[in-house]
Amino acid sequence: MEVIIRDTREQAVQLVADVMEQAIRRKPRIVLGLATGRTMESLYDKLVEKHESLGLDFSQVTTFNLDEYVGLTADDPNSYRYYMDKHLFSRINIDRLNTLLPDGAAGDLDAECRYYEELIGSVGGIDLQLLGLGQTGHIGFNEPLSAMFSRTRPKALSPKTVEQNAPLFPDPEQMPRRALTMGVGTILDARRCMMLVTGKQKAEVVAKAVEGPVTSMLSATALQLHPRCTVVVDAEAGSKLENQEYYRWIFEHEPEWLAYQ
Ligand code: GLP
Repeated sequence: MEVIIRDTREQAVQLVADVMEQAIRRKPRIVLGLATGRTMESLYDKLVEKHESLGLDFSQVTTFNLDEYVGLTADDPNSYRYYMDKHLFSRINIDRLNTLLPDGAAGDLDAECRYYEELIGSVGGIDLQLLGLGQTGHIGFNEPLSAMFSRTRPKALSPKTVEQNAPLFPDPEQMPRRALTMGVGTILDARRCMMLVTGKQKAEVVAKAVEGPVTSMLSATALQLHPRCTVVVDAEAGSKLENQEYYRWIFEHEPEWLAYQ
């Protein structure tokens, strides 16, 4: 795992956008794993900017989102499908048929999850998986006690996650209590993972995810086992990390990052 601390939120988001741009230019047929949440909105704005002003081409890109609420249809403004269309897909030249999310409104949710795993396999797996971090330490919606080898499945959301995301619903009571989510094992199969976390309210959970013991009680700790995972935080989110100086030193000395300084 690598940890990169950028002074501002803007710089943290810019770094992740730049890495994604480079990955897409290197492999135009890239398979991206995408995430939702407030943190990702400014990242998607940056990708749109790159498409508009630098001609970043998404025409051959395939995407798989991490998760979707159970019971919400694509046209529901609170569904993650709606979120992705609004913040990214409708604003770039991606083929909508190549933008995949699990269908939370499917009749048979278990079959839908198996199908989603098959789809990911059928395109050769995910090249670059983008991740955010929930207050419970979840990646996707892998709530505490999610097995490290779990695959895409329906999952009940924890009260803390409901508290975190319900304000995004016009009526907080309407927030679904279940979601379909890629499993921790599904995420660990991606060839590269990048987690973006900003803001002081995440400082504690970031410290646990990065420096704490690996435990299924905090699914982001599983990323410590991934051979190629980069965690990008702003100074606020990184403020409770014990080894901040070390992480900054690595960023300044690893050749890969020189181009991004
Ligand atoms: C939801 C998503 C997660 C995401 C999290 C972060 O819970 N399922 O994948 O990491 O939101 O949300 P925010 O960026 O709004 O803090």
